[in-house]
Amino acid sequence: MNILLIGFMGAGKTTVGQELSHDLGKHFIDLDQAIVEHVGQRIPAFFSQVGEPTFREIEAKMLAKVLEQPDTVISTGGGVIETQICMDLMSRPDVFTIWLNSDFSTVTERLLMADDMRPLMQQHSLSSFFKLWQNRQVKYARMADLMITTDSKTPNEIVDEIDRHL
Ligand code: S3P
Repeated sequence: MNILLIGFMGAGKTTVGQELSHDLGKHFIDLDQAIVEHVGQRIPAFFSQVGEPTFREIEAKMLAKVLEQPDTVISTGGGVIETQICMDLMSRPDVFTIWLNSDFSTVTERLLMADDMRPLMQQHSLSSFFKLWQNRQVKYARMADLMITTDSKTPNEIVDEIDRHL
């Protein structure tokens, strides 16, 4: 069984994924990091250079590839729910999808403090970024086998909560 962490940018998917994999004795793969290694460029530069549709194609191919490795916790990029191929992959019976659900205020606060400016945050005004968050909430909800709210919880607390549900 593979575990897939989904959720908006800044929800803490990578940190929680690392801790969760440790806890469960599974491998860990960060999908964005796998893309970086594949294309030899950091995400913001690559995303801006090739544009969102090409980025999504590569993201879907990489997700299919990383899912070939069994017993892995995979943290995804916030946009995996934008691609039908990715949604089909996360609907597979051998994939358990966990949505880390964070409030809009929590994610924007975290993203503004992050080292890497997310390309999609740069491209949107605050109100259209909010609309993107709102639209995606519906998609994450549709794809999730389990939803965990993350606001004001430590990664450790989130992992404990996930453990109790597995
Ligand atoms: C994206 C999220 C990013 C990264 C890319 C696109 C998105 O990952 O994949 O910038 O569309 O939400 P994080 O969710 O890790 O920030």
